[in-house]
Amino acid sequence: MLSKPKSPYLPFGDQQKAPWYGKDILSVKQFSRADLEYIIEVAHEMRIMVERIGTFDLLKGKILANLFYEPSTRTASSFMAAMERLGGAVIPISEVRYSSVAKGESLPDTVRTLECYADVIVLRHPEVGAAALAAKYCRKPVINAGDGVGEHPTQALLDTFTIREELGRLDNLTVTMLGDLKYGRTVHSLSRLLTRFSGIKLNYVSPDILRMPKEVIDEVAEKGIPQHESGSLDKVLPETDVLYVTRVQKERFEDGAVYEKVKEAFVVNPEVMKPAKRDMIVMHPLPRITEISMSFDDDPRAAYFRQMEYGLYVRMALLAMVLGKA
Ligand code: NCD
Repeated sequence: MLSKPKSPYLPFGDQQKAPWYGKDILSVKQFSRADLEYIIEVAHEMRIMVERIGTFDLLKGKILANLFYEPSTRTASSFMAAMERLGGAVIPISEVRYSSVAKGESLPDTVRTLECYADVIVLRHPEVGAAALAAKYCRKPVINAGDGVGEHPTQALLDTFTIREELGRLDNLTVTMLGDLKYGRTVHSLSRLLTRFSGIKLNYVSPDILRMPKEVIDEVAEKGIPQHESGSLDKVLPETDVLYVTRVQKERFEDGAVYEKVKEAFVVNPEVMKPAKRDMIVMHPLPRITEISMSFDDDPRAAYFRQMEYGLYVRMALLAMVLGKA
């Protein structure tokens, strides 16, 4: 295995100025509160720059390989847009069945190939730990864009940025996660990340068979964050500052009949939202199926479409960071 830091060309002084240069982004466990504040600051600057001038040349000459073994609309296209808005270029491999993966090529060999052509690799893969495996064999930074039911760190970072931009704070929040907490990787990452802030309370509302994994609950408990599990939204909705809704992850079920039973266990609509605060937000990583009714979309608390846009700025910040430009 080649030793890290992965990209040895930045002079030492510059490396100190860019502490994320050449690093992989595999799990939210890598980020301290100070790191989060820094990412939020850089993402905020990216937002201002995009609003003012649209595209600028911070990453001119750099190439991103976008390697997706699972479907994606937002994550794949926002990473592509992020790279292009920073003046870089993208090799998109979203249809792995048209690549050598279909011939049986291993993940290590595929990333060894892409590192010859690209400066950074974004990977989405159905297996937990795939991004860590790819990073082990890759001399260029690997960014985890979802590893099965494991983690989705860049989504949790953009979720954090969304909360900060929408509510103006990240401390003293009651966050209620609703839906498929077992297979939903976004909530695994977000609950871990929120432990970096103070005055956080987490409520988990799900069907019994889709409860938050014990491993995540134990990790969050270790940080002294109060957590409350429930099968119903009624009691916790009035105290909620962020309602984070997730899709029941159909593709992770072994038995289709079980999915059918739980797929519409919770539906957020204007009637359900009546007891909620006026100054709270509803988030969703999307895609939504039936868990949020379209009749709620025009409510000012519906932040899920704005959340997608915040994702662009956070991914611009992350690319700039790992390529030594932030
Ligand atoms: C999520 C994912 O892929 O985990 N989507 C996304 O990246 N915005 C959520 C989901 O698929 O339900």
